[in-house]
Amino acid sequence: MAEPSQVRAVVLAAGAGTRMCSAHPKVLHAVGGRPLIDWVLELARVVTDAPPVVVIGAGHDAVRERVAALAQVAVQPVPDGTGGALAAARPLLEGAEAVLVLPGDVPLLRPDTVRRLLGRSAVAAADAVLLSARPPDPTGYGRIIRAGDVFRAIVEERDLPDAGAPLPEVNTGVYVFRARPLWPALARLGTDNAQGERYLTDVLGQLAAVAVEPLEDWEEMLGVNDRVQLAAVGAALRRRTLRAAMLAGVTVEDPETTYLEPQVTVGVDTVLRPGTILRGATRVGRDCVVGPYAELVDTVTGDGCHVDRAQLSGCRLEDGVRVGPFNRVRPGSELAAGSRLGAFTEVARSRVGPGSAVPHLTYLGDAVLGRDVNIGAGTITANWDGIAKHPTAIGDGARIGSHTVLVAPAQVGAGAYTGAGSVVTQPVPAGALGVARARQRNLLGWVARRRRASAGENEAVGRRPPASQGPAEESR
Ligand code: UD1
Ligand code: CA
Repeated sequence: MAEPSQVRAVVLAAGAGTRMCSAHPKVLHAVGGRPLIDWVLELARVVTDAPPVVVIGAGHDAVRERVAALAQVAVQPVPDGTGGALAAARPLLEGAEAVLVLPGDVPLLRPDTVRRLLGRSAVAAADAVLLSARPPDPTGYGRIIRAGDVFRAIVEERDLPDAGAPLPEVNTGVYVFRARPLWPALARLGTDNAQGERYLTDVLGQLAAVAVEPLEDWEEMLGVNDRVQLAAVGAALRRRTLRAAMLAGVTVEDPETTYLEPQVTVGVDTVLRPGTILRGATRVGRDCVVGPYAELVDTVTGDGCHVDRAQLSGCRLEDGVRVGPFNRVRPGSELAAGSRLGAFTEVARSRVGPGSAVPHLTYLGDAVLGRDVNIGAGTITANWDGIAKHPTAIGDGARIGSHTVLVAPAQVGAGAYTGAGSVVTQPVPAGALGVARARQRNLLGWVARRRRASAGENEAVGRRPPASQGPAEESR
């Protein structure tokens, strides 16, 4: 039919999306962490050379913004059907020999499938080639009607005279048209159907010769019309991604509860324990154990890391890092090789040096820790003075006593200690012990004196001491 360079892709994305019951255009709803339109646009770009055309609805500025850098945009003034959508793209398709139509709400198609369709269109003496499938549940999809083997028409489910065949061949909504017969047929489209729309599918009934290419993996054609289908497509994508990861050497203990977004990479022999969520630009190294119930977003780890049920976002872990349960590591943080977070720590925009440990109940904000530092339980970097954030620097081998408050800007030199419970407001020089707390006094015999005094007072006013305290308790 045409060389790939003369094929233009058109993504139909102007529908009202009524069945989503949403204030947002359907194609901006996400699966696998990306809006539907991104998936389809990426597909269009990898299978054709010229920039794709995306047809958007009037007022769908958010869709325009999303696609403008990667595609030409046509506006369908009124959503009067898929035929009307393709007609709206026509002015941008002058000179195209063939037109690949992709529905904007069918995100799982594989590039190879579409390449096969384009290849078939190049050799078939047909006006159009359409991709068909036999999904186990054909609800909502147009039915392909044949006479013997010959394609006759597509009938929308709503326009079917009866329930139809049990496992029918359905229309995926993906077609390659030869441009010359397409345009006049599109111009002739009527609206005589259940929805009163201009159906692109009716064009196929008008063309002289239509070839049908069956889809091997029916899951690729799953479309999103409502939020039930949005979840089903998300689940299918998840199964596909997890399967690929497992076949590439990742152990997924419970695929049902593991969420791996498609752009995420995981190294071999890493174990993903149940409830693990890996999102965005996350890259996990080899021989790691992640989870149960860990969430990593845009986070890169080295090899041999263990991350228990923690939440990490926008951070980097070098090799052999351990993150225990109930930790939150926020963007801009770095955990160097062999460093460790125990439990209940929050780390923001901070670097924990090689071999350093933050075992319990700590907040590190805007802090840089050297190597082999130990942070005592309950330590806080007071990095915000109510107006600005300030840094804390802790040198190699320093030991921060439990419950130290480091009032930033703060500096603790290499090998220095801070006394437990100190509020550190001045630099602690290398090798020094910084103590900043009230000195302890012991008042010997104070308790007995206090109790006697209080019993005396009660007698003097003629009342019994309260039952729950004082000498009455002690005498039992
Ligand atoms: C369509 C097909 C159906 C096929 C199914 C596959 C028609 C009439 N029916 O049905 O045979 O089985 O896709 O998924 O084509 N759109 C516009 N402008 C409009 C209407 C729709 O751009 O006026 C866009 C939508 O944004 C969507 C795509 O076209 O991305 C398909 O429209 P939709 O209404 O979802 O069609 P289906 O009912 O799914
Ligand atoms: Ca649809």
